[in-house]
Amino acid sequence: MSGGVPQLLAGKRAVVTGGANPRGIGAAIVRLFIEHGAAVAVLDRDYPDNDAGGPRGGGPVTLHCDVSNGASCEAAMARAQDALGGIDVLVNNAGIVAATRIWDLPEDEFRRMVDVNLTGTYNVTRVALPALLASDRKPAIVNLGSTAALRGGGLLGGSHYAASKGGVISFTKALARELGPRGVRANCVAPGIIETDMTLGKFGENWETELKQGIPLQRFGSPAEVAQAILFLASDLSSYSTGIVVDVNGGFHIH
Ligand SMILES: NC(=O)c1ccc[n+]([C@@H]2O[C@H](COP(=O)([O-])OP(=O)(O)OC[C@H]3O[C@@H](n4cnc5c(N)ncnc54)[C@H](O)[C@@H]3O)[C@@H](O)[C@H]2O)c1
Repeated sequence: MSGGVPQLLAGKRAVVTGGANPRGIGAAIVRLFIEHGAAVAVLDRDYPDNDAGGPRGGGPVTLHCDVSNGASCEAAMARAQDALGGIDVLVNNAGIVAATRIWDLPEDEFRRMVDVNLTGTYNVTRVALPALLASDRKPAIVNLGSTAALRGGGLLGGSHYAASKGGVISFTKALARELGPRGVRANCVAPGIIETDMTLGKFGENWETELKQGIPLQRFGSPAEVAQAILFLASDLSSYSTGIVVDVNGGFHIH
């Protein structure tokens, strides 16, 4: 307990990708994980290549990593593991979005989307896996899907974004099946419209008002609200859940 709040990740060592943007979901995950007692390493392409990476005043270890590049993931994960002494939780949060419609969608943009969102999730999982399998602290993987994967994009995500996130959801379910017998859980969070740089100011006032009216909870979500669902899936609170997709969308998509 810290200040009366139960520490749901006490003693856990967590790697979170895509946490460099202070207004993003990744940074909210890192803040909440640290509040709950985890030691955290953050991997992001926006950290400098030569970043010393050391923990800063109780903050996370920060390491440069391009998740779409296998070698970059391998180097960053080795340093994360050195710094943390092991890995018990992996959150694959790094991602990109684009609204390009299919008739304007060039092959290189399609490939880039899949490279970052789907292959990136595979790359980071692959290099973290030996440490997760060696963990005796109830290891868990949490991946970031999206409502776009479930409803066919249509808002800020085009077909390539929806397909990449659909791939992440299927990949997560397969991980759950393959890794469950070896003691590692794997789950997904599917956020709806969350107020980050990916979405803020992107709809225009009229469309934004209309969208909010169509959401049962009548508003967009916050990064902290996504982080709370991820905390649940990363912690032992969800010890009998694997292969599930938790919607964090205000009721925007109910199925
Ligand atoms: N914001 C939303 O409404 C929303 C909805 C559904 C799903 N998501 C998903 O949540 C995750 C976080 O999104 P966000 O809204 O916080 O976005 P964001 O743009 O604020 O953060 C994304 C982070 O990923 C990092 N990143 C991008 N490409 C990378 C790469 N190749 N290698 C390493 N790091 C990379 C960026 O530097 C950034 O720090 C993404 O996977 C996104 O698809 C967001």
